[in-house]
Amino acid sequence: MRQNNVYIETYGCQMNVADSEVVMGILKNNGYSITDKPESADVILLNTCSVRDNAEQRIYGRLGNLKKYKDGHPGLVLGILGCMAERLRKDLIEDKKVVDIVIGPDEYRRIPEFIHHAYHGEKGIGVKLSKTETYDDIIPYREDGLSAWISVMRGCDKFCTFCVVPFTRGRERSRSLSSIIEEIKLLSGRGFREVTLLGQNVNSYYDEAGFDFADLLAAAAMVDRKIRVRFTTSHPQDLSDKLLYTIAEHSNLCNYIHLPVQSGSNRILELMNRTYTSEHYLELIDKARKIIPGVSFSTDIISGFPAETLEDHLMTLDVMNKVRYDGAYMFKYSPREGTKAFKMEDDVDEETKSKRLQQIIDLQQRISAEVNQSLVGSNDTVLVEGFSKKSDKYLAGRTDTNKVVVFPAIENVSTGDYVKVKISKSTSATLFGDFIELVDKYSVPGERLTA
Ligand code: SAH
Ligand code: SF4
Ligand code: F3S
Repeated sequence: MRQNNVYIETYGCQMNVADSEVVMGILKNNGYSITDKPESADVILLNTCSVRDNAEQRIYGRLGNLKKYKDGHPGLVLGILGCMAERLRKDLIEDKKVVDIVIGPDEYRRIPEFIHHAYHGEKGIGVKLSKTETYDDIIPYREDGLSAWISVMRGCDKFCTFCVVPFTRGRERSRSLSSIIEEIKLLSGRGFREVTLLGQNVNSYYDEAGFDFADLLAAAAMVDRKIRVRFTTSHPQDLSDKLLYTIAEHSNLCNYIHLPVQSGSNRILELMNRTYTSEHYLELIDKARKIIPGVSFSTDIISGFPAETLEDHLMTLDVMNKVRYDGAYMFKYSPREGTKAFKMEDDVDEETKSKRLQQIIDLQQRISAEVNQSLVGSNDTVLVEGFSKKSDKYLAGRTDTNKVVVFPAIENVSTGDYVKVKISKSTSATLFGDFIELVDKYSVPGERLTA
């Protein structure tokens, strides 16, 4: 007897995490239950990522062992959601005979229908992309907790030449400001303390009522001064002054910007269709630092893009030295079929790609360690997320600038509290500190935190 239990495994970026919650919301509304145990599931769904070849290889590996599992469990429905569904479509059903349903990011409303048919032995594919779907009216299913991801827009129109996302996620479109604010109110009522607004390029958020991303951030900040608001990802081209001033004005809008640079060479940036130069990028960083004192930055970097020379690579290291990022996500270029860069020759050999990537990683680690060391002796406000990974004698949380801080646990301080901490020690990944006092909540715009 089927219990209509669905298990979802999520790969890729936070957009997929948010989408899985939308999918669970849709399933719950249609009489399905969600399980976190694959062995008790009637339906197993993998929400997949195509961004680099190794992301897809991991999922193929997982499909391989699920195939074995399915052989021993006839009747189990196996589905692929997300970006690989768009990229591989029929292949997944025809070549990998194990998959029953393939559903792309804009067809999740039809999941119950597809599962129903799959129960009767009918395979199904739904991969149409939409210009308008935002799942505005769906309440995502979330466990209680501190932090929530909220998708505020979908798709991407930037067409960076290396990237599959515009093909797997379709055209850019924004949810309405009002529905996002309603969602934050619900989360506030449930005791959430942090929301992260998500989009591939949140700076081009623009809803039908004419609100832009700065308007959305300002409105989000006003819902509950105990809720911190984060956002990701920003494309350097659309980061407006209005946005920077809005972040500076509201103390619960986090002073942290993820601003992928990808490369420090203008020639490579042009081949990537990133639409900015390294000079423009560095000016933007300077401006942001003036408007938002203490703002932290992280970035994404690709090593070994087609035609990248040693000189181009050194320019990337140079930009890293100039910006001094707090953190970075660093990748080897991976050719993706269907993109413009796929037609360029992937001419940087594997060994050189790896060597350059390692130099980038080593440099970033040194910079992160130095930046963190410079914070020793200062005070910061931490949102307590729970005990530290290593010991129940320590609590851990993050600063507004997204740095992990570990400090000795004390009575009266628990998960969800804001505390002022004095930083006493650091590594490249973690700050250590001592408790000073509890902080009540974030103040109204223009004021400092109240103790
Ligand atoms: N929308 C975000 C990025 C989404 S993908 C932005 O524009 O910043 C996350 C990161 O993966 C990208 O910033 C890029 O650094 C990396 N990436 C994307 N496609 C890649 C590829 N083909 N090879 C290697 N890295 C890639
Ligand atoms: Fe991909 Fe560029 Fe869009 Fe980011 S902005 S998702 S890297 S195309
Ligand atoms: Fe991967 Fe798709 Fe996100 S390709 S990074 S899951 S948008």
